[in-house]
Amino acid sequence: MFATFRLLLLLSFLSLLTSAQSEDQRQILLNLKSTLHNSNSKLFHSWNATNSVCTFLGVTCNSLNSVTEINLSNQTLSGVLPFDSLCKLPSLQKLVFGYNYLNGKVSEDIRNCVKLQYLDLGNNLFSGPFPDISPLKQMQYLFLNKSGFSGTFPWQSLLNMTGLLQLSVGDNPFDLTPFPKEVVSLKNLNWLYLSNCTLGWKLPVGLGNLTELTELEFSDNFLTGDFPAEIVNLRKLWQLEFFNNSFTGKIPTGLRNLTKLELLDGSMNKLEGDLSELKYLTNLVSLQFFENDLSGEIPVEIGEFKRLEALSLYRNRLIGPIPQKVGSWAKFDYIDVSENFLTGTIPPDMCKKGTMSALLVLQNKLSGEIPATYGDCLSLKRFRVSNNSLSGAVPLSIWGLPNVEIIDIEMNQLSGSISSDIKTAKALGSIFARQNRLSGEIPEEISMATSLVIVDLSENQIFGNIPEGIGELKQLGSLHLQSNKLSGSIPESLGSCNSLNDVDLSRNSFSGEIPSSLGSFPALNSLNLSENKLSGEIPKSLAFLRLSLFDLSYNRLTGPIPQALTLEAYNGSLSGNPGLCSVDAINSFPRCPASSGMSKDMRALIICFAVASILLLSCLGVYLQLKRRKEDAEKYGERSLKEETWDVKSFHVLSFSEGEILDSIKQENLIGKGGSGNVYRVTLSNGKELAVKHIWNTDVPARRKNSWSSTPMLGNKHGGGGKSKEFDAEVQALSSIRHVNVVKLFCSITSEDSSLLVYEYLPNGSLWDRLHTSRKMELDWETRYEIAVGAAKGLEYLHHGCEKPVIHRDVKSSNILLDEFLKPRIADFGLAKVIQANVVKDSSTHVIAGTHGYIAPG
Ligand SMILES: *[C@@H]1O[C@H](CO)[C@@H](O)[C@H](O)[C@H]1NC(C)=O
Ligand SMILES: *[C@@H]1O[C@H](CO)[C@@H](O)[C@H](O)[C@H]1NC(C)=O
Ligand SMILES: *[C@@H]1O[C@H](CO)[C@@H](O)[C@H](O)[C@H]1NC(C)=O
Ligand SMILES: *[C@@H]1O[C@H](CO)[C@@H](O)[C@H](O)[C@H]1NC(C)=O
Ligand SMILES: *[C@@H]1O[C@H](CO)[C@@H](O)[C@H](O)[C@H]1NC(C)=O
Ligand SMILES: *[C@@H]1O[C@H](CO)[C@@H](O)[C@H](O)[C@H]1NC(C)=O
Ligand SMILES: *[C@@H]1O[C@H](CO)[C@@H](O)[C@H](O)[C@H]1NC(C)=O
Ligand SMILES: *[C@@H]1O[C@H](CO)[C@@H](O)[C@H](O)[C@H]1NC(C)=O
Ligand SMILES: *[C@@H]1O[C@H](CO)[C@@H](O)[C@H](O)[C@H]1NC(C)=O
Ligand SMILES: *[C@@H]1O[C@H](CO)[C@@H](O)[C@H](O)[C@H]1NC(C)=O
Ligand SMILES: *[C@@H]1O[C@H](CO)[C@@H](O)[C@H](O)[C@H]1NC(C)=O
Repeated sequence: MFATFRLLLLLSFLSLLTSAQSEDQRQILLNLKSTLHNSNSKLFHSWNATNSVCTFLGVTCNSLNSVTEINLSNQTLSGVLPFDSLCKLPSLQKLVFGYNYLNGKVSEDIRNCVKLQYLDLGNNLFSGPFPDISPLKQMQYLFLNKSGFSGTFPWQSLLNMTGLLQLSVGDNPFDLTPFPKEVVSLKNLNWLYLSNCTLGWKLPVGLGNLTELTELEFSDNFLTGDFPAEIVNLRKLWQLEFFNNSFTGKIPTGLRNLTKLELLDGSMNKLEGDLSELKYLTNLVSLQFFENDLSGEIPVEIGEFKRLEALSLYRNRLIGPIPQKVGSWAKFDYIDVSENFLTGTIPPDMCKKGTMSALLVLQNKLSGEIPATYGDCLSLKRFRVSNNSLSGAVPLSIWGLPNVEIIDIEMNQLSGSISSDIKTAKALGSIFARQNRLSGEIPEEISMATSLVIVDLSENQIFGNIPEGIGELKQLGSLHLQSNKLSGSIPESLGSCNSLNDVDLSRNSFSGEIPSSLGSFPALNSLNLSENKLSGEIPKSLAFLRLSLFDLSYNRLTGPIPQALTLEAYNGSLSGNPGLCSVDAINSFPRCPASSGMSKDMRALIICFAVASILLLSCLGVYLQLKRRKEDAEKYGERSLKEETWDVKSFHVLSFSEGEILDSIKQENLIGKGGSGNVYRVTLSNGKELAVKHIWNTDVPARRKNSWSSTPMLGNKHGGGGKSKEFDAEVQALSSIRHVNVVKLFCSITSEDSSLLVYEYLPNGSLWDRLHTSRKMELDWETRYEIAVGAAKGLEYLHHGCEKPVIHRDVKSSNILLDEFLKPRIADFGLAKVIQANVVKDSSTHVIAGTHGYIAPG
């Protein structure tokens, strides 16, 4: 009886306690709710004033209704965690906030969460250092990876966490520290992730004591020293990753005992010796040791690994054969053993399960044929076997693989022809087949491989014509067919490949006339038609291209050399064409008969020449235009690309008269003034906009035509008499700057008093506009950098998708920002030389834009 009473008393006391406690808990949790923000309105729906806290979504209680866990992982939460109140939850053991956008500092109050066993703050956006948490002695799982913590991590806090099972603090930008020796005492650890958190020097002694480890990663650090042999004691490891450090020495003897290993990656170190320790690791799924100094043979046993899916050993000094059965057992994904000295043949069965995505064996000494099995490998995306000694015919069906993006067979002794199967190669972007023994014709079906960007079939024995359908390849940027046995005429349709920037058809037997459509390539940068049998006159359209490489030598061209190609005639680009004649008495070319000369004295009045010419008016403008073009293309598809003013054809016909231009040169159209003249925006009756630059001739500053403009003119700034130097310089620049990035000069209009240059109008685009509107008196570094990167991006766009490095020759200060148009303007703002930009593109990343510049004194 009494006992029962006591029990009742106790129970009611407990329930009082818990209900009081429950109100506190609610306060704490509602406080948490109010400090955090999230986009999922449903998440906190159950967190309200009436519900029991133990039914709040993500909250777990023990049998006494005391909160033990809060799990709000991956809920798009942001805000600062209120540890001061959270740690007042008396039974809190588990906090899971991973994969959110939590920010701010983690406060010292976290030290009060003394019962915590599980803390996951990983994958967030915190800042500042992580506080000392030595009081959290019961910790078992600590996930702080990729959370933005910096400074020094409180490694000594780990010393009291003797029960720690999993520790993940990688991917944080800590200050450089040695690998924490504190972890060596954590004998129960089974998971240790310390990659990419700025650890240096050598690994601590004793790591081999952590025999419970199954997962050990410390990649992307600055660790040095011989790779420790102790590691071989970690028999339970299934994942060991230490790539991208500076470890030296050999793969330790005894590694063979780590037979549970499935994932092993020691790439990008300085390891030497051979791979013989690996031959017993039969459970490996992924084996990577690329970019080391390893030598010897690939153990033949690797060919028997039943679970192997990925093998990457490129850039070592390996010799001998590739085990022939490699990849034939599991769902093999890729092999990359490029850049070694491997011999023998390509293993035939790596795509046996139909899952292989990449076969990369470039630059070895492999011989034999390409196994026909790869022609059936529908999953294959990258097929690269270049620079070996492969022979025999390329399996025809390889050309038609539906997912293949790159076929690189160059520099072998391969024969066969490019088959009509290519019609199904819808993903194919690049063909590199240079220097082989391919023969046959280019199939008409190539026109259906519409993703093609690069086609290099040079130095083979391909014959026949270029198929007419080539014009369908709208993305084609580079076409190299030189040194083959191609004949027939160059199809006019090539002019429809409006992305072409690099064409080399030299050393073939092409005949007939050069199609004038070649002059309409908007992006052409390089054209080599030399050593063919091309005849007829040089199309006038070609004269308006401004190329960094132009070669029509050794053909059978006849007739007058267009005046705009005088420079080319001098540098040999037209030599070996005995039928060409010159109007301007160019050495080594006979003079044309008088009748073919053109009427000369046009200076007096108005000359409109429909020139599609270049001027890097503003690299930024070009970039914006390219960007706009790309956006438009994305928005409207191909149609709008065609309509873009990039089409040179439209320049031949001027859609305006000089009268219309002259009428528009008035104050309200003025958009800019600068060192060299005024710039007006002219909207034509057809709605088209033009930019017109007006330069006064300096010898007549007093006589101004009121009808044109009443604003002060700038001619007097440029002393020295005679006709405007600016004008001459600009026209001169237009015919000498060689670059594919064009701002069109439609015409020039001159009179005795002044000169007008009529350009295409770039909205908001020009650097000058920018300077003008921002009224900045000088270009700051950021702006300069921005402009250079803009230019680089513009160029990159032109070279988009190139697999091979593109090093742009012409990107330098003199033709990016300092053409004759901009120079005086920049000088106006107290700046002379500005920027040098380099565009270097490599196969993996895309663009590296390097810039440097300086402000000229004075
Ligand atoms: C509180 O949450 C519960 C569970 O989601 C819901 O049924 C109840 O309507 C909510 N109460 C209020 C006042 O919002
Ligand atoms: C947290 O909750 C999610 C979703 O309910 C669950 O998948 C995950 O396992 C939980 N995490 C932990 C550590 O309990
Ligand atoms: C997070 O949630 C999204 C869906 O809401 C899911 O796709 C994603 O895989 C989750 N991420 C993690 C790491 O759990
Ligand atoms: C990083 O932290 C998350 C939790 O935020 C965890 O799920 C994941 O396994 C950790 N990654 C590594 C490599 O430790
Ligand atoms: C570990 O715990 C002991 C006793 O609880 C304490 O004295 C010591 O300061 C703790 N160590 C650290 C590094 O906090
Ligand atoms: C390395 O860590 C940084 C954060 O410090 C992160 O942004 C980056 O993605 C990590 N690198 C890799 C390869 O995960
Ligand atoms: C590793 O463990 C052994 C045996 O338990 C012990 O003698 C040694 O001191 C430990 N090494 C370190 C560095 O903790
Ligand atoms: C190698 O690791 C360093 C340090 O984390 C990092 O900066 C660098 O980007 C890594 N290199 C590669 C190729 O991932
Ligand atoms: C590998 O394991 C065997 C058997 O446990 C042992 O005898 C041998 O010494 C180990 N090898 C090395 C090199 O540690
Ligand atoms: C081809 O491979 C050899 C070594 O086998 C190498 O020296 C050479 O540079 C490679 N050529 C190209 C163009 O990659
Ligand atoms: C054009 O091609 C021929 C033959 O392939 C080559 O010899 C010549 O150097 C190339 N012209 C230029 C300017 O590179």
